[in-house]
Amino acid sequence: MTDERDAFRPRHLLVTGGAGFIGANFVHHVVREHPDIHITVLDALTYAGNRANLTGVPDDRITFVHGNICNAELVESLVSAQSTLPPIDAIVHFAAESHNDNSILDAAPFLRTNIDGTYVLLEAARRHDLRFHHISTDEVYGDLSLDDPHRFTETSPYKPSSPYSASKAASDHLVRAWHRTYGVRTTISNCSNNYGPWQHVEKFIPRQITNILSGIRPKLYGQGLAVRDWISVEDHCSAVWAVLTRGRIGETYLVGADGEYSNIEVLRMILERMGQPADAFDHVNDRPGGDKRYAIDAGKIQRELGWRPQYTDFAAGLDATIEWYRTHRDWWEPAKASTEEKYRLQGH
Ligand code: NAD
Ligand code: DAU
Repeated sequence: MTDERDAFRPRHLLVTGGAGFIGANFVHHVVREHPDIHITVLDALTYAGNRANLTGVPDDRITFVHGNICNAELVESLVSAQSTLPPIDAIVHFAAESHNDNSILDAAPFLRTNIDGTYVLLEAARRHDLRFHHISTDEVYGDLSLDDPHRFTETSPYKPSSPYSASKAASDHLVRAWHRTYGVRTTISNCSNNYGPWQHVEKFIPRQITNILSGIRPKLYGQGLAVRDWISVEDHCSAVWAVLTRGRIGETYLVGADGEYSNIEVLRMILERMGQPADAFDHVNDRPGGDKRYAIDAGKIQRELGWRPQYTDFAAGLDATIEWYRTHRDWWEPAKASTEEKYRLQGH
């Protein structure tokens, strides 16, 4: 296990996509747990980004930059800035186009942000010898059949299914190449499905909760038999911190919390918790090429870094998430109608 004494101690992080779901949770996590660190957030505030996700973070802990990771001049100006702050010593890269259904409609922004944007950041890390942690997904490994006894490991072959997951796989390959060819100090974490506060209403769990809160029937793709391996976003954030500070350079770590449920099981749990009949939902079109099952073996990060998920009671996590959406209507309502309209046009 990596010794605490060998840990990398960042002083100033560049967090890309820090106004999105996981990036914002990570910024809150670092601000709360690690008081000496300054964070520069670089975020393009796409439809998925929201400055309000960082409400409550003290002004003296972050510098918010509204900009695009594909803008090489902007990225260079941030990593070479001279100021009273310590220089940026690590990039933690969350920014991405993240939604599979959108990638099926139009892959272009996925290729630009997820591939070109990662390239721009890697080049900046190379020029300035920065530590680079890349946030990736279990979807790069494709899917497992429902009855497969195996789970994904760090040596599973890359086999992405959607334009989104193919673009994330491409970005993983760039990160590995920049380590091997140029010696950039990189790590990668591939995580399973996250849930928690500030998740956009396009995603499965928030969509169903906010549908019920809006008087719309929840929508289940196909028969709802696909399985996802759910993890609390807070556990993902602590895993990213563990890999950033104690992970072995050049390595990949899978992150998951043994939270496998079929979509119909999750929907039934939400319906029950929100006082709805068990059949109060509609079946809608399945996703073209949709992945059947993801399942993570997180043995490596547990053995090497001593990381353990803390929030493994999924029912309790769903209760807290439902409560968050109940009490944050003003946060999600502005995005709800346009998201549902986009789904209606796709038959979802
Ligand atoms: P999200 O869509 O909620 O947030 C993405 C953020 O990136 C937004 O704030 C958006 O404004 C920003 N962004 C997009 N394009 C940008 C650009 N060109 N320049 C700068 N900023 C840009 O996504 P998320 O769910 O928080 O996912 C974050 C990362 O985690 C992604 O890399 C995703 O692939 C990965 N991931 C997500 C999950 C999950 O369950 N959501 C699981 C594993 C890995
Ligand atoms: O596994 C990690 C991935 O998890 C991340 O890389 C992605 O960024 C993230 O979006 C998520 O991808 P999924 O495609 O698994 O998540 P999504 O919430 O879009 O869908 C989860 C499952 O629920 C999937 O089988 C499709 C289904 N679904 C989705 C929606 C939006 C429904 O049945 N109904 C819905 O309304």
